Amino acid sequence: MRIGILCSRVRVEEKWLFQSLQERGAQPEWVQDEAVVFGLPTVLEQYDGILIRSLSHSRALYASQLLTAGGIPTVNAPDVIATCGDKLITSLALVRHGVPTPPVRVAFSPEAALAAIEELGYPVVLKPLNGSWGRLQAKINDRDAAEAILEHKQTLGGYTHSIFYIQEYIPKPGRDIRSFVVGGETVAAIYRTSSHWITNTARGAQASNCPITPEIDHISRAAAEAVGGGVVAVDILEAPDGRLLVSEVNHTPEFRNSVAPTGVDIPGRIADYVLEVAMKSER
Ligand SMILES: Nc1ncnc2c1ncn2[C@@H]1O[C@H](COP(=O)(O)OP(=O)(O)O)[C@@H](O)[C@H]1O
Ligand SMILES: [Mg+2]
Repeated sequence: MRIGILCSRVRVEEKWLFQSLQERGAQPEWVQDEAVVFGLPTVLEQYDGILIRSLSHSRALYASQLLTAGGIPTVNAPDVIATCGDKLITSLALVRHGVPTPPVRVAFSPEAALAAIEELGYPVVLKPLNGSWGRLQAKINDRDAAEAILEHKQTLGGYTHSIFYIQEYIPKPGRDIRSFVVGGETVAAIYRTSSHWITNTARGAQASNCPITPEIDHISRAAAEAVGGGVVAVDILEAPDGRLLVSEVNHTPEFRNSVAPTGVDIPGRIADYVLEVAMKSER
């Protein structure tokens, strides 16, 4: 099996994925997203499948669409990338599939956003629709802050900042849960603990093993299914009443900090899944 790994740089995750694919007898090759040129409609037909690991959402999305149109299976599939790459579309998918998620409001102007925030009640979290690592997320504690941030976004922000995506703030217990779902199975989960309300490991949160309870397993699989399956990481918030709420789903998860604490060979599980997908669609 010839498997391409599409990305700009080979980081720790991609190195491990190469190794895991090799150990399984496949021939992985780096497809550099900055160098690749796609024809229409047949593209990169030397590969049996492509694992998409581009950090850029638009590169990931268009590459998966081009490859799928050319008959090359991709992990993830275009629909999964399109959904997970946009927090608003993700929310829609979660709600449509009955997956518990924090209350969300969407508004198209600062005035409407302020009204929505006041109606939800402080604090709220204002998020850009795209992005990761907690970037440009604002926890808004009062009206003064709301007015200031909305004005800044309107004046300084680009197009995507003119859509105001507002989530109720969930007072979680100093951590959130990140679970990994591969091919419909919850394979691992970590707690991400931080003194900051943003608990991305890229922002310094500590990763530790989170036992996969039946509840975590259920909500993780439901969230993955809602966005179309594949390989995803699910961010879960624990509400004070004990309920689990999915705040977002990620389509190109980092896992360098999750293998050691969980003891789970996450790249190996991903490699197994990629080969399964490639095998199924063998041309
Ligand atoms: N509604 C919320 N209530 C409490 N904390 C939140 C909420 N939304 C996000 N967070 C915190 O911020 C972090 C980043 O938010 P997330 O929506 O996952 O965006 P990103 O794509 O940047 O990772 C989460 O891991 C969580 O710790
Ligand atoms: Mg996140």
